[in-house]
Amino acid sequence: MSLNKVIELKNVNKYYKLKNDMLHALKDINLTINQGEFVMIMGKSGSGKTTLLNLLGFLDRFEKGNYIFNGKDVTNLNENQRSELRNSYMGFTFQQFHLIDSLTIGKNVELPLLYREKNGMSRKERAKRVEKYLDTVGLLDKKKRSPSELSGGQQQRVAIARALINDPYVIFADEPTGALDSETGIDIMNILKRLNEEKKTILMVTHDEDLIKYASKVIHLKDGLITKVE
Ligand SMILES: Nc1ncnc2c1ncn2[C@@H]1O[C@H](COP(=O)(O)OP(=O)(O)OP(=O)(O)O)[C@@H](O)[C@H]1O
Ligand SMILES: [Mg+2]
Repeated sequence: MSLNKVIELKNVNKYYKLKNDMLHALKDINLTINQGEFVMIMGKSGSGKTTLLNLLGFLDRFEKGNYIFNGKDVTNLNENQRSELRNSYMGFTFQQFHLIDSLTIGKNVELPLLYREKNGMSRKERAKRVEKYLDTVGLLDKKKRSPSELSGGQQQRVAIARALINDPYVIFADEPTGALDSETGIDIMNILKRLNEEKKTILMVTHDEDLIKYASKVIHLKDGLITKVE
């Protein structure tokens, strides 16, 4: 096993079952993501970006091929094993933030720690972590507020703090700037850039060509096929 390979896909194919048909959404995908890379998955709407990110993050399954995570073949793990890996090593942000409005900002950020099976972390330790990561995204003063009281950019920063709370190997970000104006989007990109400089591996989906400059690797998808890696 090579030490710095975090993710490898080998000939992965994904199909969606439609009413009378099958949609071949990902076609013979081969890719490698190394530790510390800032990878962007680019492509038009419908090209398969979210599908790819979701199967890498164990949010969905695929039919054919192999997935190696951290040197281990994880293709055939059961749901419990998948959740355990997801909660221990992966952090997620989405275009629409997915914060829970009935919980405070602090509780939203803490949530992934509560999902962990063997977290063994005391309340006090958890509170300390929440503060650390809210501080990382510059929102420590909003800890007691509710998500709806925050701007879109602030909500995405909370989502990033939540993604970081487990100190994940990989941050998965699906169009993290998609719902934001371009200036606020740049704030988010600068946070992701800083995290990447601190050695976090980032896998981001976007269709915005202007964001290519932040990436160390760009994977171009078209109709479910990788057409170029640069
Ligand atoms: N749950 C599903 N059931 C059936 N087909 C799906 C499902 N999800 C996605 N698809 C189809 O798979 C293809 C890839 O979709 P996907 O959501 O991965 O595209 P995308 O590149 O993320 O697009 P966008 O930029 O619009 O988010 C599309 O043709 C889409 O219609
Ligand atoms: Mg998508």
